[in-house]
Amino acid sequence: MASYSRITGTGSYLPPRRVTNDDLARELAQRGIETSDQWIIERTGIRARHFAAPEVTSSDLAFEAARHALEAAGRQASEVDLIIVATSTPDMVFPSSAAILQNKLGVAGCPAFDVQAVCSGFVYALTVADAMIRTGTANCALVVGAEVFSRILDFNDRTTCVLFGDGAGAVVLEASETPGILASDLHADGKHVGILCVPGHVSGGQVTGTPFLHMDGQAVFKLAVRVLEEAARATLAKAGKTDADIDWLIPHQANIRIMEGTAKKLKLDREKLIVTVHEHGNTSAASIPLALDDAVRSGKVKKGDTVMLEGVGGGFTWGAVLLDM
Ligand code: ACO
Repeated sequence: MASYSRITGTGSYLPPRRVTNDDLARELAQRGIETSDQWIIERTGIRARHFAAPEVTSSDLAFEAARHALEAAGRQASEVDLIIVATSTPDMVFPSSAAILQNKLGVAGCPAFDVQAVCSGFVYALTVADAMIRTGTANCALVVGAEVFSRILDFNDRTTCVLFGDGAGAVVLEASETPGILASDLHADGKHVGILCVPGHVSGGQVTGTPFLHMDGQAVFKLAVRVLEEAARATLAKAGKTDADIDWLIPHQANIRIMEGTAKKLKLDREKLIVTVHEHGNTSAASIPLALDDAVRSGKVKKGDTVMLEGVGGGFTWGAVLLDM
């Protein structure tokens, strides 16, 4: 049984259609809705996001990200013995997007399931995979965050539709005798269900209730700033580390003001904050692995660096994972 799990490869994928704030403002103007590049940048830091074509699903994006992660790890899909997909926009009610991804990868047999913790999904999924590796249930896990949030946006609601995008990120997590994942800290508090939700459900073969994302932005903002600091501190304490040990902070990419606020509370230089929200928007469960892969491929995050990943989202859910690359 391995003592630890470690990331051996990262990958990501963005659908080709890039939509700038100006593009979106033009589209919304046709519906009589006013927004602007300036408002979106000032309030969120977002300049552009990617939207998937109508026929493209989360598992399609996951497949591309997984391919890149496997290639980076030097692994074949046949060597993977666990697949976890974090998503809130699965291809179907069931089966899971993980099972669909497994088939797209041309393999069969290993366990495959989805984790649904909205924007905390990736840190939840990584923690589950780490635990399964350390207990000997798996040796080589594919952990993916994949979303097509454009499908659940109400393009008549300017307070939410400008914030989100589509994409996928993946890591290969393998059994290791040297530490990779050092500690994690996960939480949920269901009493906040109403501040960030998609209240629709399927009944009698019909979608009932609203199938669009609803968010109380200010309530989410306040809660996010508080719990992100708490989760980071709890994770550092579990690992016996301090703020000074963090080389890179990769928070969920929702809003630059929340991210900079968290970095400040952890007394980290702005340069240690990995930012992709300006180009990706908020891609929910995909945002952390997308940002991680971007940072690895751009040469910022290197082997041996200590990285703090942090998620926060609907539920309310939140959590952090501290790891050595
Ligand atoms: N364009 C132009 N004006 C807008 C837009 C828009 N797209 N959206 C709202 N406004 C207007 C409002 O109508 C309001 O006008 P009013 O003053 O005349 O009433 C004004 O801008 C200010 O609106 P606020 O809601 O007060 O703006 P705020 O500064 O709170 O910013 C935002 C809104 C960006 C949503 C912010 O609250 C936020 O980032 N919250 C956190 C959201 C978040 O991080 N969510 C993700 C976490 S979980 C997950 O990822 C699923």
